[in-house]
Amino acid sequence: MALESSRLAFERTRRSVGGGVGSGLRASMRPHPLFVREARGAHVWDLDGDRYVDYVMAWGPLVLGHGDPRVVEAVRDVADRMQVVGTGHELEYLAAEAVLDAVPHGERLLWSNTGTEAVQVALRLARAATGRRRVLKFARSYHGWHDSVYAGLDEADSDRPAAVVSKGQSPSALDDLVVARFNDVAMAERILAEAVERDIAAVLVDPILSNGGVEAPGPDFLPTLRTLCDRHGVVLVFDEVIAGFRVARGGSAERFGVTPDLSVFGKAMAGGLTQSAVVGRAGLIDQVTSGVVHAGTFNANPLALAAVEATMRALDEPGLYEALERVAADFEVKVGAVLAAQPGRGSLNRVGSLLQYVPEGGGTGLHGTGGHWDAILDGMLRRGFLFMPSGKVFLSTAHTASDVEATAEALDKVLCEL
Ligand SMILES: Cc1ncc(COP(=O)(O)O)c(C=O)c1O
Repeated sequence: MALESSRLAFERTRRSVGGGVGSGLRASMRPHPLFVREARGAHVWDLDGDRYVDYVMAWGPLVLGHGDPRVVEAVRDVADRMQVVGTGHELEYLAAEAVLDAVPHGERLLWSNTGTEAVQVALRLARAATGRRRVLKFARSYHGWHDSVYAGLDEADSDRPAAVVSKGQSPSALDDLVVARFNDVAMAERILAEAVERDIAAVLVDPILSNGGVEAPGPDFLPTLRTLCDRHGVVLVFDEVIAGFRVARGGSAERFGVTPDLSVFGKAMAGGLTQSAVVGRAGLIDQVTSGVVHAGTFNANPLALAAVEATMRALDEPGLYEALERVAADFEVKVGAVLAAQPGRGSLNRVGSLLQYVPEGGGTGLHGTGGHWDAILDGMLRRGFLFMPSGKVFLSTAHTASDVEATAEALDKVLCEL
Protein backbone atom coordinates (compact mmCIF):
# COMPACT_ATOMS: atom_id res chain seq x y z
CA MET A 1 0.00 0.00 0.00
CA ALA A 2 1.57 3.25 -1.12
CA LEU A 3 -0.35 5.64 1.17
CA GLU A 4 1.04 8.45 -0.96
CA SER A 5 -2.28 10.13 -1.78
CA SER A 6 -3.31 10.02 1.88
CA ARG A 7 -0.01 11.63 2.88
CA LEU A 8 -0.54 14.44 0.37
CA ALA A 9 -4.20 14.85 1.37
CA PHE A 10 -3.19 15.12 5.04
CA GLU A 11 -0.63 17.81 4.16
CA ARG A 12 -3.32 19.73 2.32
CA THR A 13 -5.93 19.27 5.08
CA ARG A 14 -3.53 20.65 7.68
CA ARG A 15 -3.52 23.94 5.81
CA SER A 16 -7.27 24.42 6.24
CA VAL A 17 -8.37 22.25 9.20
CA GLY A 18 -6.84 22.66 12.66
CA GLY A 19 -4.46 19.73 13.20
CA GLY A 20 -5.58 18.21 9.88
CA VAL A 21 -8.18 15.99 11.55
CA GLY A 22 -11.93 16.27 12.14
CA SER A 23 -11.65 14.87 15.68
CA GLY A 24 -8.59 15.41 17.86
CA LEU A 25 -8.17 11.73 18.69
CA ARG A 26 -7.58 10.95 15.00
CA ALA A 27 -4.29 12.82 15.24
CA SER A 28 -2.93 9.67 16.87
CA MET A 29 -3.43 7.68 13.63
CA ARG A 30 -0.05 6.60 12.22
CA PRO A 31 1.71 7.58 10.04
CA HIS A 32 -1.27 9.90 9.39
CA PRO A 33 -5.02 9.29 8.88
CA LEU A 34 -5.90 7.18 5.86
CA PHE A 35 -7.95 9.24 3.40
CA VAL A 36 -10.89 7.15 2.24
CA ARG A 37 -12.69 7.44 -1.10
CA GLU A 38 -15.17 4.63 -0.66
CA ALA A 39 -16.30 2.34 2.15
CA ARG A 40 -18.41 -0.82 1.79
CA GLY A 41 -19.06 -3.71 4.16
CA ALA A 42 -15.82 -4.56 5.99
CA HIS A 43 -13.60 -2.66 3.56
CA VAL A 44 -12.42 0.87 2.74
CA TRP A 45 -10.60 2.09 -0.36
CA ASP A 46 -8.11 4.94 -0.05
CA LEU A 47 -7.42 7.77 -2.51
CA ASP A 48 -4.91 5.58 -4.34
CA GLY A 49 -7.64 2.96 -4.87
CA ASP A 50 -6.02 0.48 -2.46
CA ARG A 51 -8.39 -1.70 -0.43
CA TYR A 52 -8.08 -2.29 3.33
CA VAL A 53 -9.91 -4.61 5.71
CA ASP A 54 -11.30 -2.11 8.19
CA TYR A 55 -11.17 -2.85 11.92
CA VAL A 56 -11.69 0.81 12.86
CA MET A 57 -15.35 0.78 11.80
CA ALA A 58 -15.54 4.55 12.29
CA TRP A 59 -14.38 4.10 15.93
CA GLY A 60 -17.36 1.94 16.75
CA PRO A 61 -20.63 2.83 15.04
CA LEU A 62 -20.61 0.35 12.18
CA VAL A 63 -21.90 -2.88 13.73
CA LEU A 64 -23.53 -3.61 10.35
CA GLY A 65 -20.41 -2.61 8.41
CA HIS A 66 -20.15 0.30 5.98
CA GLY A 67 -23.14 1.23 3.85
CA ASP A 68 -25.66 -1.40 4.92
CA PRO A 69 -28.20 -1.20 2.03
CA ARG A 70 -31.20 -1.12 4.41
CA VAL A 71 -29.80 1.92 6.22
CA VAL A 72 -28.72 3.68 3.01
CA GLU A 73 -32.14 3.12 1.43
CA ALA A 74 -34.00 4.46 4.49
CA VAL A 75 -31.85 7.60 4.57
CA ARG A 76 -32.19 8.13 0.82
CA ASP A 77 -35.96 7.81 1.06
CA VAL A 78 -36.31 10.46 3.77
CA ALA A 79 -33.66 12.75 2.22
CA ASP A 80 -35.88 13.03 -0.86
CA ARG A 81 -38.71 14.34 1.30
CA MET A 82 -37.05 16.43 4.04
CA GLN A 83 -33.82 17.13 5.86
CA VAL A 84 -33.91 18.85 9.23
CA VAL A 85 -37.34 20.35 10.00
CA GLY A 86 -37.17 21.73 13.54
CA THR A 87 -40.61 20.41 14.38
CA GLY A 88 -42.30 17.06 14.87
CA HIS A 89 -42.16 14.25 12.31
CA GLU A 90 -43.19 10.59 12.29
CA LEU A 91 -39.68 9.20 12.59
CA GLU A 92 -39.36 10.72 16.09
CA TYR A 93 -41.73 8.13 17.50
CA LEU A 94 -41.06 5.34 15.01
CA ALA A 95 -37.35 5.35 15.77
CA ALA A 96 -37.96 5.84 19.51
CA GLU A 97 -40.35 2.89 19.60
CA ALA A 98 -37.77 0.75 17.80
CA VAL A 99 -35.08 1.66 20.37
CA LEU A 100 -37.36 1.20 23.39
CA ASP A 101 -38.42 -2.16 22.01
CA ALA A 102 -34.77 -3.29 22.01
CA VAL A 103 -33.72 -1.98 25.41
CA PRO A 104 -35.17 -3.91 28.39
CA HIS A 105 -35.39 -0.88 30.70
CA GLY A 106 -36.39 1.57 27.99
CA GLU A 107 -39.54 3.34 29.11
CA ARG A 108 -38.77 6.68 27.49
CA LEU A 109 -35.88 8.40 25.66
CA LEU A 110 -34.41 11.77 24.73
CA TRP A 111 -32.71 12.33 21.37
CA SER A 112 -29.31 14.02 21.11
CA ASN A 113 -26.59 13.98 18.48
CA THR A 114 -23.33 12.78 20.01
CA GLY A 115 -22.38 10.60 22.95
CA THR A 116 -20.74 13.58 24.64
CA GLU A 117 -24.00 15.54 24.56
CA ALA A 118 -26.16 12.66 25.74
CA VAL A 119 -23.88 12.00 28.74
CA GLN A 120 -24.42 15.62 29.80
CA VAL A 121 -28.18 15.23 29.56
CA ALA A 122 -28.08 12.04 31.64
CA LEU A 123 -26.04 13.74 34.38
CA ARG A 124 -28.38 16.71 34.39
CA LEU A 125 -31.35 14.37 34.89
CA ALA A 126 -29.51 12.61 37.75
CA ARG A 127 -28.66 15.90 39.47
CA ALA A 128 -32.21 17.18 39.11
CA ALA A 129 -33.67 13.97 40.52
CA THR A 130 -31.37 13.74 43.55
CA GLY A 131 -30.70 17.38 44.31
CA ARG A 132 -27.00 16.40 44.51
CA ARG A 133 -24.08 17.61 42.42
CA ARG A 134 -21.23 15.14 42.05
CA VAL A 135 -20.62 12.14 39.82
CA LEU A 136 -18.71 8.96 40.62
CA LYS A 137 -16.83 7.74 37.57
CA PHE A 138 -14.08 5.17 37.04
CA ALA A 139 -10.44 5.69 36.18
CA ARG A 140 -9.47 4.96 32.54
CA SER A 141 -13.04 5.44 31.39
CA TYR A 142 -13.87 7.99 28.72
CA HIS A 143 -17.30 9.59 28.54
CA GLY A 144 -16.70 12.26 25.90
CA TRP A 145 -14.54 15.33 25.80
CA HIS A 146 -16.83 17.77 27.65
CA ASP A 147 -15.18 19.64 30.57
CA SER A 148 -17.33 18.03 33.24
CA VAL A 149 -16.37 14.39 32.54
CA TYR A 150 -13.03 14.54 30.71
CA ALA A 151 -10.91 13.65 33.71
CA GLY A 152 -9.67 10.85 35.87
CA LEU A 153 -8.25 8.87 32.96
CA ASP A 154 -5.57 7.45 35.24
CA GLU A 155 -6.37 8.35 38.81
CA ALA A 156 -8.42 6.08 41.03
CA ASP A 157 -9.75 6.67 44.51
CA SER A 158 -9.44 10.40 44.32
CA ASP A 159 -11.98 12.68 45.86
CA ARG A 160 -11.32 15.06 43.03
CA PRO A 161 -9.04 14.47 39.99
CA ALA A 162 -5.81 16.39 40.54
CA ALA A 163 -5.44 17.91 37.11
CA VAL A 164 -7.33 18.66 33.94
CA VAL A 165 -6.63 16.40 30.97
CA SER A 166 -6.88 19.11 28.32
CA LYS A 167 -5.34 22.52 28.32
CA GLY A 168 -8.12 25.08 28.49
CA GLN A 169 -10.45 22.80 30.42
CA SER A 170 -12.14 24.40 33.42
CA PRO A 171 -10.48 23.10 36.61
CA SER A 172 -13.63 23.88 38.59
CA ALA A 173 -15.50 21.18 36.65
CA LEU A 174 -13.30 18.60 38.39
CA ASP A 175 -14.87 19.52 41.75
CA ASP A 176 -17.93 17.61 40.58
CA LEU A 177 -16.08 14.30 40.11
CA VAL A 178 -15.10 11.43 42.37
CA VAL A 179 -12.97 8.74 40.71
CA ALA A 180 -13.01 5.07 41.71
CA ARG A 181 -11.37 1.96 40.22
CA PHE A 182 -13.28 -0.17 37.73
CA ASN A 183 -14.16 -3.61 39.10
CA ASP A 184 -13.15 -2.61 42.64
CA VAL A 185 -16.29 -3.47 44.58
CA ALA A 186 -14.87 -2.55 47.99
CA MET A 187 -13.83 0.91 46.80
CA ALA A 188 -17.29 1.57 45.33
CA GLU A 189 -18.88 0.42 48.60
CA ARG A 190 -16.67 2.69 50.64
CA ILE A 191 -17.30 5.77 48.52
CA LEU A 192 -21.01 5.26 48.04
CA ALA A 193 -21.57 4.67 51.76
CA GLU A 194 -20.85 8.42 51.97
CA ALA A 195 -22.98 9.34 48.96
CA VAL A 196 -25.01 11.90 50.90
CA GLU A 197 -22.01 13.55 52.61
CA ARG A 198 -20.04 13.55 49.34
CA ASP A 199 -23.04 14.89 47.41
CA ILE A 200 -23.02 12.05 44.83
CA ALA A 201 -25.92 12.21 42.38
CA ALA A 202 -24.86 9.59 39.84
CA VAL A 203 -22.60 6.65 39.17
CA LEU A 204 -21.45 6.92 35.55
CA VAL A 205 -20.02 3.64 34.30
CA ASP A 206 -19.07 2.20 30.94
CA PRO A 207 -19.98 -1.42 31.72
CA ILE A 208 -17.07 -2.89 29.71
CA LEU A 209 -14.41 -0.21 30.25
CA SER A 210 -14.23 0.08 26.46
CA ASN A 211 -11.56 2.76 26.40
CA GLY A 212 -9.43 1.40 29.21
CA GLY A 213 -8.47 -2.01 27.84
CA VAL A 214 -11.89 -3.61 27.13
CA GLU A 215 -12.15 -5.06 30.60
CA ALA A 216 -15.30 -7.08 31.27
CA PRO A 217 -17.13 -6.30 34.51
CA GLY A 218 -16.50 -8.87 37.24
CA PRO A 219 -19.58 -10.90 38.21
CA ASP A 220 -20.28 -8.77 41.32
CA PHE A 221 -19.35 -5.34 40.01
CA LEU A 222 -22.45 -4.12 38.19
CA PRO A 223 -24.92 -5.89 40.55
CA THR A 224 -23.15 -4.23 43.52
CA LEU A 225 -23.33 -0.81 41.87
CA ARG A 226 -27.06 -1.40 41.35
CA THR A 227 -27.58 -2.32 45.01
CA LEU A 228 -25.48 0.57 46.30
CA CYS A 229 -27.24 3.11 44.08
CA ASP A 230 -30.61 1.90 45.35
CA ARG A 231 -29.44 1.97 48.95
CA HIS A 232 -27.94 5.45 48.82
CA GLY A 233 -30.38 7.16 46.45
CA VAL A 234 -27.89 7.52 43.56
CA VAL A 235 -28.83 7.33 39.86
CA LEU A 236 -27.04 4.52 37.99
CA VAL A 237 -26.06 5.61 34.48
CA PHE A 238 -24.59 3.13 31.99
CA ASP A 239 -22.54 4.86 29.31
CA GLU A 240 -23.21 2.42 26.50
CA VAL A 241 -21.94 4.65 23.72
CA ILE A 242 -19.63 1.82 22.64
CA ALA A 243 -21.28 -1.20 24.25
CA GLY A 244 -24.84 -0.40 23.22
CA PHE A 245 -26.24 -2.47 20.35
CA ARG A 246 -22.76 -4.02 19.99
CA VAL A 247 -22.51 -6.44 22.93
CA ALA A 248 -26.21 -7.34 22.62
CA ARG A 249 -29.28 -5.84 20.96
CA GLY A 250 -30.50 -4.73 24.39
CA GLY A 251 -27.05 -3.44 25.32
CA SER A 252 -25.31 -4.09 28.61
CA ALA A 253 -28.51 -4.49 30.59
CA GLU A 254 -29.31 -7.53 28.45
CA ARG A 255 -25.75 -8.91 28.31
CA PHE A 256 -24.93 -8.51 32.01
CA GLY A 257 -28.43 -8.76 33.48
CA VAL A 258 -28.22 -5.51 35.47
CA THR A 259 -30.72 -2.70 34.95
CA PRO A 260 -29.46 0.88 35.16
CA ASP A 261 -31.73 3.86 35.69
CA LEU A 262 -30.47 5.49 32.49
CA SER A 263 -28.39 4.28 29.55
CA VAL A 264 -26.61 6.54 27.10
CA PHE A 265 -26.47 5.20 23.55
CA GLY A 266 -24.65 6.63 20.56
CA LYS A 267 -22.34 5.21 17.95
CA ALA A 268 -24.03 1.98 16.80
CA MET A 269 -27.61 3.13 17.00
CA ALA A 270 -27.74 4.90 13.62
CA GLY A 271 -25.67 2.63 11.39
CA GLY A 272 -23.13 5.37 10.70
CA LEU A 273 -25.16 8.56 11.01
CA THR A 274 -24.92 10.99 13.92
CA GLN A 275 -27.33 10.07 16.69
CA SER A 276 -27.38 9.51 20.41
CA ALA A 277 -30.03 9.02 23.06
CA VAL A 278 -30.59 8.79 26.78
CA VAL A 279 -32.90 5.87 27.49
CA GLY A 280 -34.41 4.79 30.77
CA ARG A 281 -36.96 5.33 33.48
CA ALA A 282 -39.85 7.57 32.50
CA GLY A 283 -39.81 9.30 35.89
CA LEU A 284 -36.25 10.50 35.28
CA ILE A 285 -36.63 11.37 31.61
CA ASP A 286 -39.92 13.20 32.10
CA GLN A 287 -38.13 15.80 34.22
CA VAL A 288 -37.70 17.61 30.91
CA THR A 289 -41.32 18.69 31.38
CA SER A 290 -40.61 20.11 34.84
CA GLY A 291 -37.52 22.23 34.61
CA VAL A 292 -34.67 20.15 33.15
CA VAL A 293 -33.50 21.78 29.94
CA HIS A 294 -32.61 19.52 27.03
CA ALA A 295 -32.23 21.18 23.65
CA GLY A 296 -30.49 21.03 20.28
CA THR A 297 -31.27 22.34 16.80
CA PHE A 298 -30.29 19.07 15.19
CA ASN A 299 -31.89 16.74 17.76
CA ALA A 300 -34.17 14.13 16.17
CA ASN A 301 -32.87 14.94 12.71
CA PRO A 302 -35.01 12.88 10.26
CA LEU A 303 -32.06 11.51 8.27
CA ALA A 304 -30.42 10.10 11.38
CA LEU A 305 -33.70 8.78 12.78
CA ALA A 306 -34.45 7.00 9.50
CA ALA A 307 -31.07 5.35 9.97
CA VAL A 308 -31.90 4.49 13.60
CA GLU A 309 -35.15 2.82 12.66
CA ALA A 310 -33.54 0.84 9.84
CA THR A 311 -30.58 -0.15 12.04
CA MET A 312 -32.81 -1.32 14.87
CA ARG A 313 -34.82 -3.47 12.45
CA ALA A 314 -31.65 -4.89 10.94
CA LEU A 315 -30.23 -5.72 14.39
CA ASP A 316 -33.42 -7.65 15.17
CA GLU A 317 -32.59 -10.24 12.50
CA PRO A 318 -32.56 -13.69 14.16
CA GLY A 319 -29.06 -15.03 14.74
CA LEU A 320 -27.30 -11.72 14.04
CA TYR A 321 -25.60 -11.40 17.44
CA GLU A 322 -24.66 -15.07 17.45
CA ALA A 323 -22.97 -14.61 14.04
CA LEU A 324 -21.20 -11.47 15.27
CA GLU A 325 -20.01 -13.34 18.35
CA ARG A 326 -18.71 -16.19 16.14
CA VAL A 327 -16.63 -13.93 13.90
CA ALA A 328 -15.25 -12.07 16.92
CA ALA A 329 -14.40 -15.33 18.70
CA ASP A 330 -12.73 -16.56 15.50
CA PHE A 331 -10.63 -13.36 15.46
CA GLU A 332 -9.72 -13.82 19.11
CA VAL A 333 -8.64 -17.44 18.52
CA LYS A 334 -6.76 -17.01 15.20
CA VAL A 335 -5.13 -13.63 15.78
CA GLY A 336 -4.57 -14.50 19.44
CA ALA A 337 -2.76 -17.70 18.38
CA VAL A 338 -0.42 -15.72 16.11
CA LEU A 339 0.40 -13.36 19.00
CA ALA A 340 0.88 -16.24 21.43
CA ALA A 341 3.25 -18.05 19.05
CA GLN A 342 5.83 -15.31 19.57
CA PRO A 343 6.22 -14.69 23.31
CA GLY A 344 6.26 -11.09 24.40
CA ARG A 345 4.14 -9.82 21.52
CA GLY A 346 0.99 -9.18 23.56
CA SER A 347 -2.51 -10.64 23.72
CA LEU A 348 -6.16 -9.82 23.13
CA ASN A 349 -9.06 -8.93 25.42
CA ARG A 350 -12.57 -9.43 24.09
CA VAL A 351 -16.14 -8.64 25.08
CA GLY A 352 -18.54 -9.53 22.26
CA SER A 353 -17.48 -7.89 18.99
CA LEU A 354 -15.12 -5.44 20.72
CA LEU A 355 -11.50 -6.49 21.15
CA GLN A 356 -8.37 -4.84 22.48
CA TYR A 357 -4.71 -5.55 21.83
CA VAL A 358 -2.91 -5.64 25.19
CA PRO A 359 0.88 -5.31 25.11
CA GLU A 360 2.95 -7.69 27.20
CA GLY A 361 3.22 -6.21 30.69
CA GLY A 362 1.93 -2.87 29.45
CA GLY A 363 -1.17 -0.76 29.52
CA THR A 364 -3.53 0.41 26.84
CA GLY A 365 -4.58 3.97 26.17
CA LEU A 366 -7.16 6.10 24.44
CA HIS A 367 -4.65 7.78 22.14
CA GLY A 368 -2.30 4.88 21.59
CA THR A 369 -1.10 1.75 23.23
CA GLY A 370 2.29 0.49 24.28
CA GLY A 371 4.54 -2.42 23.43
CA HIS A 372 4.74 -3.46 19.79
CA TRP A 373 1.40 -1.97 18.80
CA ASP A 374 2.70 0.97 16.76
CA ALA A 375 4.93 -1.35 14.72
CA ILE A 376 2.10 -3.85 14.25
CA LEU A 377 -0.28 -1.06 13.25
CA ASP A 378 2.18 0.21 10.66
CA GLY A 379 3.03 -3.24 9.26
CA MET A 380 -0.64 -4.20 8.99
CA LEU A 381 -1.60 -0.92 7.34
CA ARG A 382 1.02 -1.46 4.66
CA ARG A 383 -0.46 -4.92 4.03
CA GLY A 384 -4.02 -3.61 3.74
CA PHE A 385 -5.43 -3.92 7.26
CA LEU A 386 -6.62 -0.78 9.05
CA PHE A 387 -6.45 -0.78 12.86
CA MET A 388 -7.02 1.80 15.62
CA PRO A 389 -4.11 3.59 17.34
CA SER A 390 -5.58 2.56 20.70
CA GLY A 391 -5.39 -1.14 19.77
CA LYS A 392 -9.17 -1.53 19.95
CA VAL A 393 -10.59 -3.79 17.26
CA PHE A 394 -14.17 -3.33 16.10
CA LEU A 395 -15.81 -6.25 14.29
CA SER A 396 -19.04 -6.03 12.31
CA THR A 397 -21.54 -8.35 10.71
CA ALA A 398 -19.78 -7.60 7.39
CA HIS A 399 -16.48 -9.20 8.49
CA THR A 400 -16.05 -12.76 7.31
CA ALA A 401 -13.98 -15.78 8.30
CA SER A 402 -11.76 -15.13 5.27
CA ASP A 403 -11.09 -11.54 6.43
CA VAL A 404 -10.03 -12.97 9.79
CA GLU A 405 -7.90 -15.66 8.14
CA ALA A 406 -6.13 -13.08 5.97
CA THR A 407 -5.58 -10.86 9.02
CA ALA A 408 -3.95 -13.66 11.00
CA GLU A 409 -1.68 -14.55 8.06
CA ALA A 410 -0.60 -10.93 7.58
CA LEU A 411 0.02 -10.47 11.31
CA ASP A 412 2.25 -13.53 11.32
CA LYS A 413 4.41 -11.95 8.59
CA VAL A 414 4.46 -8.57 10.36
CA LEU A 415 5.54 -10.11 13.66
CA CYS A 416 8.30 -12.10 11.95
CA GLU A 417 9.65 -8.87 10.47
CA LEU A 418 9.64 -6.95 13.77
C1 LIG B 1 -17.87 5.20 26.24
C2 LIG B 1 -17.97 6.50 25.48
N1 LIG B 1 -18.78 7.47 25.93
C3 LIG B 1 -18.94 8.64 25.28
C4 LIG B 1 -18.25 8.89 24.11
C5 LIG B 1 -18.43 10.20 23.40
O1 LIG B 1 -19.18 10.00 22.24
P1 LIG B 1 -19.03 11.03 21.01
O2 LIG B 1 -17.67 10.81 20.44
O3 LIG B 1 -20.14 10.61 20.07
O4 LIG B 1 -19.24 12.38 21.55
C6 LIG B 1 -17.40 7.91 23.59
C7 LIG B 1 -16.65 8.15 22.36
O5 LIG B 1 -15.80 7.40 21.93
C8 LIG B 1 -17.24 6.69 24.29
O6 LIG B 1 -16.41 5.74 23.86
